[in-house]
Amino acid sequence: MKNHRIVIIVTTLFSLFLLVVSKAHAVDIENGRSLHAENCLACHATNTYSPDKRKIHDLAALTTQVKRCDFSLGTQWFDEDIEDAVSYLNNEFYHFK
Ligand code: HEC
Repeated sequence: MKNHRIVIIVTTLFSLFLLVVSKAHAVDIENGRSLHAENCLACHATNTYSPDKRKIHDLAALTTQVKRCDFSLGTQWFDEDIEDAVSYLNNEFYHFK
């Protein structure tokens, strides 16, 4: 009888743990792609990101620039959206480590 109760408690705790873990943010490149396509091509095309034109040379600078452009655009993206857009840009264009 006592063992059953422990099994139930452990199972419940484990389910709660899974719930918390699954809510944690995983980078979503497809979200970054669509956010970028919808918001970011008003002032510059993607050729701004090309190796011969870019002024950005590391991931930190890329994040800073995405925040700056988000700010001047007034889109007020969440931190997760910034992260997704940076991952999309890095994956597609910059390829920083
Ligand atoms: C209001 C106009 C404007 C919009 C809209 C805009 N940007 Fe920019 N963006 C700029 C300008 C201007 C530069 C060039 C800054 C420079 O050369 O110093 C730039 C440069 C960049 C760069 C750096 C390019 C490089 O490698 O040199 C990135 C990355 C970037 N923007 C991302 C974004 C993202 C993501 C969005 C959507 C949130 C966005 N931009 C929307 C104006 C804009």
